[in-house]
Parts: sequence; C-alpha cells; structure tokens
Amino acid sequence: MAALMRLPVTLQRLRALKFAGEKIAALTAYDATFARLMSEQGVEIILVGDSLGMVLQGAQNTLAVTMDDMVYHSRLVAKGTAGPLILSDMPFMSYATPEQALANAARMIGEGGAHMVKLEGGSWLLDTVRKLTERGIPVCGHLGLTPQWVNKFGGHRVQGREPDAAERIYTDAHALAEAGAELLVLECVPSALARRITTSISMPVIGIGAGPDCDGQVLVLHDVIGVSARKLRMARNFLQQGGSIQAALAAYVDAVKTGKFPEAAHGSDQ
Ligand code: KIV
Repeated sequence: MAALMRLPVTLQRLRALKFAGEKIAALTAYDATFARLMSEQGVEIILVGDSLGMVLQGAQNTLAVTMDDMVYHSRLVAKGTAGPLILSDMPFMSYATPEQALANAARMIGEGGAHMVKLEGGSWLLDTVRKLTERGIPVCGHLGLTPQWVNKFGGHRVQGREPDAAERIYTDAHALAEAGAELLVLECVPSALARRITTSISMPVIGIGAGPDCDGQVLVLHDVIGVSARKLRMARNFLQQGGSIQAALAAYVDAVKTGKFPEAAHGSDQ
C-alpha cells in the first residue's frame, strides 16, 4: 500500500497493537527519503534518534548533538511521511530542567513536526514528564543503557544485570508511566527484566538489545542496512537477505512482526 494511504499511527493505535499482541516495528531515520521508504514498508514508529551524532556526524557518542540538529532532522522526516508516529530524541542537556525541557520539546513538536519526544532517564525526570504531558506533549521514556550517560556508565554497557539495578529500572519504568509517559524504550537490559516490565505496564515497550518479549523493536537504520562503522551484537544486517534497501526494510518489519527478530544472540543476557 502506498505510504500516504496508510492511516497515521497514533498512540492509541500503538496501545491497541500491544493489547492485541501484535509486535510494533520501529526504526531510526533522519531524512525524508528514508522516512518515506519506511512508511511504505509499514514501519510504525520512526525514531529521529540522537544516534545521528554517530551515524551522520561521525562522532563517538551522542553528546554533541544539538537541539538545532534534532529539529532540522525531525523536520526532514516529517516532510517524508504522514504515516508513522514520529518520535524525536531530546538531545543531551536539552531537558536538564523542566522549564528547559518544555521550551525545547515545544520546538521539537512545533518546528520539527515530531509527534512525541524521548527523554533518557528515570526518577529525576518525573516532574519534567508531568510538565510536558500536562501541556499536551507526549513523552517516551528511555531506560537501561541510556547513551547520554556514556561517561557515567564508563562506556556503552548493558544495564540492569545486578538485582538492585534491575529493581531500579523496573521502579523507574512504573514511575514514568505514573507521571504520564506513554511509550518506553528499553535498551540493553537482560531479557527477563524487559519481560517483567513489558508484562506489568500498560504503555507499549520498545526494546533494543532487550530480548524478544518487548511489545516492539527498534534498530538504527545504518545497522539494518549494514553500513555502520560499528558491528553491534543487538543488530542484524537485513540488506544481506533483502537485496535492496526497500526489501531490507520489509524484511526487518516482517522479522519483528513474526517474532523472528530478535533472536537470543541479539540480546544482553550473556
Ligand atoms: O538515538 C537512537 O537511535 C536511540 C536508539 C538506539 C533507541 O535512542
């Protein structure tokens, strides 16, 4: 079906998919062309990720990405599609206080055309999540390996292996939901923890390196088409089986929907 004939994906639709047990396919995109191709292949959430710091700007991490960068790339994605839900990352230090978060999130929605913003972190963000959601800005949480914390974590490391760390992530997920968050990304946590959170919470949970039991999966586009400088265990190159970019995107969506991706090897259990 042509991209623009698909019904727009809303938060209500994502919740319906969760309750129907249908997996949600999400991918990062940073421009209009890939956003259009993803819409045509049935991707439900396009994440304008601050991973663009690495895959577009060549940095080692996401920390130098600015609000202007994120607004610009969100706008490009919004021009390419009317179908998927557009989720944009709030970059490092753009939401350090609730007031700053509100002003910057308003830009991301108003200028960037995003439908929802993603913030990394747990308990310290609760006032911010309340402030945004009470003013009509939908919020996605991001827990586990939160890449903006790379210097605190001492690298991009699996989180939540120890029981107290797992408990903190579980509690944070529920506190974010209570504060008004309506979607959650769980990155690089053990699959048992991801399963426990996903089955105990009503908002959809999208995993990356978090095992097969989340409500959906997200990957970085450049990993899916095998052009990243990095080779991540949690990713798969779908272009190898696909033969074209369109076929690779279709294969990714199909593998997520049918539960063929991720396999145990893509998780964070070992
Ligand atoms: O920036 C990004 O692409 C992300 C995903 C890795 C979840 O946050």
